[in-house]
Amino acid sequence: MLMLAGRASDARVPCPAECCTTAARGLAMSRISAPDHTKAPMTTHKLLLLPGDGIGPEVMAEVERVLAFFNKRSTKAKFDTETDVVGGASIDIHGIPVTDACVAKADKADAIVFGSVGGPKWDKVKYEIRPEAGLLRLRKDLDLFANLRPAICYPALAEASSLRREHVEGLDILILRELTGGTYFGEPKEIVTLEDGQQRAVDTTVYTTAEIERIARVAFELARNRKNKVHSAEKRNVMKTGVLWNQVVTAVHQKEYKDVQLEHILADACAMQLVRNPKQFDVIVCDNLFGDMLSDEAAMLTGSIGMLPSASLGAPDPKTGKRKALYEPVHGSAPDIAGKGLANPIAQIASFGMTLRYSCGLAKEADLVDKAIADVLAQGYRTGDIMQPNMRKVGTTEMGKAIVGALEKLAA
Ligand code: IPM
Ligand code: MG
Repeated sequence: MLMLAGRASDARVPCPAECCTTAARGLAMSRISAPDHTKAPMTTHKLLLLPGDGIGPEVMAEVERVLAFFNKRSTKAKFDTETDVVGGASIDIHGIPVTDACVAKADKADAIVFGSVGGPKWDKVKYEIRPEAGLLRLRKDLDLFANLRPAICYPALAEASSLRREHVEGLDILILRELTGGTYFGEPKEIVTLEDGQQRAVDTTVYTTAEIERIARVAFELARNRKNKVHSAEKRNVMKTGVLWNQVVTAVHQKEYKDVQLEHILADACAMQLVRNPKQFDVIVCDNLFGDMLSDEAAMLTGSIGMLPSASLGAPDPKTGKRKALYEPVHGSAPDIAGKGLANPIAQIASFGMTLRYSCGLAKEADLVDKAIADVLAQGYRTGDIMQPNMRKVGTTEMGKAIVGALEKLAA
């Protein structure tokens, strides 16, 4: 049953047709929804796969396994995939972490499924062309401002968290991170040499009313389909951006979303409360930098950072209603285990599940993916990062195969 609670966390795509779960049908049409393809005879979804570096290609191979399952089976949707290089892999070939051609492909795709970038091999490349710059350019150029990071504790993993079972069992929170503004992109961003020979580094945190309004709206829309509660995490006691964030979120709430419960919380207190009593939260909305940190923290509540998927969404196109979207695991490239077949592919596969839900309008298929993941965990399959006593330790491929096996059973 937790699966249903868990899936509700993703602001599921409501579907009036018989294909969706009761929970999905019961929800009001949200603005955070994908176009409904259930009535179309056949839709082809164009996906751009960007495996990237480190464990990225290994975990992406398991997404391809899941994709092959759906392509073989589904009559109403087909997936066309194209693959390109990004991050260090792109630096090695093109000298830059993402090419214009790759960005153009990303722009045309229905969705991008992204692996991870970076690693010690590229530690010495110039800052401007470091692997991470490829990901940041994609986020910025496609204006993917809303980053949804759901942290759900699967029942089978309640013991794998560093927190006691009672704190994480049934956990279902959603961190909504603003992704295209704030400290990550503010100018100036530089290191200058002063007259006395010292250096001075500057990062700038900038937010406008419109940027805060649009992320606040996403937070309230998401909350309406969940437990109806939003915490806005900000440093209004120190930062001017925190003061404005607080004011704008309050104003949007007053004007448009009075039915949703809103609480403001200082970002540092939020970090503390996340490990003290995480289940008090439903949706946490915050700026780019705080979101980066709070989501890594939330990941560990679920047992492992190898479990957390994410969706980065743009605004809906005024004509088609479609949002540009990139789906990626929250974990990084894990160079220490790369190439060894040890990585946990669940976050990457769950990110593909979010692709089905938000970009393809395939809520039923997304539910299947989530259920298959829960089933293999319940059967005792564990990669090293979530290994527990008396469980069955498997590698990346075996975990991917087990998930496809569970999908086959569920779909039979
Ligand atoms: C994340 C990552 C990225 C970020 C890095 C890889 C640039 O940590 O998605 O959380 O800082 O946003
Ligand atoms: Mg991060």
